[in-house]
This record gives sequence, C-alpha cells and structure tokens, in this order.
Amino acid sequence: MNVRIYKDAKTIGTAAATLFTACVIEKPDCVLGLATGSTPIPTYEKMAELYRDGVVDYAGVTTYNLDEYVGLDHGHDQSYYYFMQENLFRHINVKEENVHVLSGIAPDPEQECSEYERAIEAAGGIDLQILGIGRNGHIAFNEPADSFAPATHVVELTESTIDANKRFFASADDVPRRALTTGIGTIMKARAIVLIATGADKAEAVRAMVKEPVSPRCPASILQFHPNATILLDEAAASLL
Ligand code: PGA
Repeated sequence: MNVRIYKDAKTIGTAAATLFTACVIEKPDCVLGLATGSTPIPTYEKMAELYRDGVVDYAGVTTYNLDEYVGLDHGHDQSYYYFMQENLFRHINVKEENVHVLSGIAPDPEQECSEYERAIEAAGGIDLQILGIGRNGHIAFNEPADSFAPATHVVELTESTIDANKRFFASADDVPRRALTTGIGTIMKARAIVLIATGADKAEAVRAMVKEPVSPRCPASILQFHPNATILLDEAAASLL
C-alpha cells in the first residue's frame, strides 16, 4: 500500500484527479471504476475542470460504477446513477453508452449482478478504480462479513451504513435496506486502485485497513494484498496511523 497524507480534501481531489487524468491520457480507451459518496466529489470536480481546460478527452473511456441501491431507478435523485450524472458524467464527454451503473430495479437482481461482472471482464477489466471507505471499513457495499465476496452480488446493508447514508434521505426509514455491489474479488482485479479517506470519522477504519491483519471484518484491509493500491488521506483520517 502506498499511503500518502495531504493537508485537505481539495488537495486530495487534485491528486486523485491527476491520477485519473493521466490514466486517460496514457490509455484513451481505458476502463475506469467509479464510486459515489461525499469523498470523491472534489476528485470529480477537478476531473471536470481538467476536461474543460482541454487536458483530457473522455470520448473513448468506459466506466463501471461500484454499486447501486435496490429499488431506486436511475431517475431517482438518490440513485447512484443520478449522482454520477450530476457530479461527473454531465461535465465531461464520456459517451452515455459507455457508462455502466448497476440497475436497482432489475427484475432479477442476481442476474443483473452476474451480467455486470461478465461485462466488466468483457471490457478488459478495470484499469483504475476509485474507492471510498465506510466507517465500518466497507468498500463499495461490501460490509464486514465472515468472508470476502468474490463477485458482484446483492447485499443487506448494515445499520452503520444506513445511519451514515441517512443524511441523503428524508429519514433513515427511507434508506434502501439492500444494494447491488461489485465484490471484493471484482475490486481486487482492478489493475490500479486509489482509495480516498477524509475526516476523523474514517480514522479507525483507516487504521484497521492499514495496520490490522487482513480480515473480512474490515473489508478494505484486503487492499494490503493489492499490488498497486494508493491510499490518499487527510491528516484527520490518518490520525491513528
Ligand atoms: P462517503 O462514503 O464518501 O460518503 O463517506 C464512503 C463509503 O461509504 O464508501
């Protein structure tokens, strides 16, 4: 793990956007793995700025998002598809047909998951994956468990995740209880990974990820085994290292 500590979230966003932009410049038809949540927003803002400045062209890029809530269609303002449109896709020239987000309303969620996993493989796999981390150590919606999930699957969200995400909904009761998520195996196949964590409420999860033995009780700890994982932290998130 390559751990880097920065002064604030904006600077981390610039660092991560630089890595993404370099990836697209080097490989214009690359496959990017994208994430939602508050953490990647400064990265997406900087990626859009670099696109506007003419630094990078997304016309040949394909994207796959990590996860989606069960029950929310792509037009729902809390769906992760909607989030990506608002925060990144409508600000860059990625082609609509090259954008992939799991469907929360697929009639057969298990089939949706297996087709998504196959589609990522058929696209040649993820070149660069951005990740956040949950306060409970989750990556994507891979919650603490007894084993690592190998592939895209349907999950029951934990109370910790529902509590963390209720700020985006009218109440905790409105947060979907299930989600579709790429698996730990899916994430670990990415050729390069950038995980971002900011704020003191991520410090314990970051400590467990970096310092504790690899365990599915802290899903992010698996990144210790990844050959090209870069961890970008602010000082608060790094305070227990
Ligand atoms: P956050 O979510 O960026 O909104 O903190 C991160 C995550 O749960 O993976």
